[in-house]
Amino acid sequence: MSLEITPVVKGEAVVFKNPAKEFYEAVGGEEGMKKLMYSFYDKIYESDIAHFFPQDEEEFEKVKVKNSKFFIQICGGPKVYEDEAKGMELNEYMIRLHDDFSINEKARIEWLGTMREALNELEGVDEELIESFWNYLDNFSKLTVNTFSDGSTYYAAYTQAKEVK
Ligand code: HEM
Repeated sequence: MSLEITPVVKGEAVVFKNPAKEFYEAVGGEEGMKKLMYSFYDKIYESDIAHFFPQDEEEFEKVKVKNSKFFIQICGGPKVYEDEAKGMELNEYMIRLHDDFSINEKARIEWLGTMREALNELEGVDEELIESFWNYLDNFSKLTVNTFSDGSTYYAAYTQAKEVK
């Protein structure tokens, strides 16, 4: 399975496609997505980017539950995250939410690498479907990077993102 990380280029338009609903179905719907995402966040808690997240275990549990709802919805499941986005388009809301954190390419790579570990543990899911989820993450995560190695910041505008159907 080729789950490659393509580099972020400051200011470059990002083209992304939401994950295929077939991926959501293949992992086992809402329960399967929860299992996958809880496993991902458990790994995040032990990762090099753990400090971005609440250190308190109970608070972290809340983040885990809330974040998983986003992934359930973006993958084509029920609209369980809708109210959080306060009427904004889901992906646009998600980009702006990350503005509050100084995310650089290194943090993005750690985030994606942690997700790759969780995805590698999936059993019985077609590679093609996992790749569809991965491609969304690889591309979309570029929009969360706002801090660059030369010390500059850049907050991607949603209008520079191109969502293809
Ligand atoms: C595909 C890329 C990503 C997606 C889809 C994503 C998704 C999310 C979601 C759904 C939330 C919760 C929003 C809420 O509060 O309702 C969140 C929060 C957060 N994300 Fe991401 N994320 C991505 C990339 C990253 C990366 C690369 C980092 C790097 C550190 C990161 C760090 C955070 C942090 C620190 C929070 C806040 C946690 C808190 O509530 O304290 N995210 N993200």
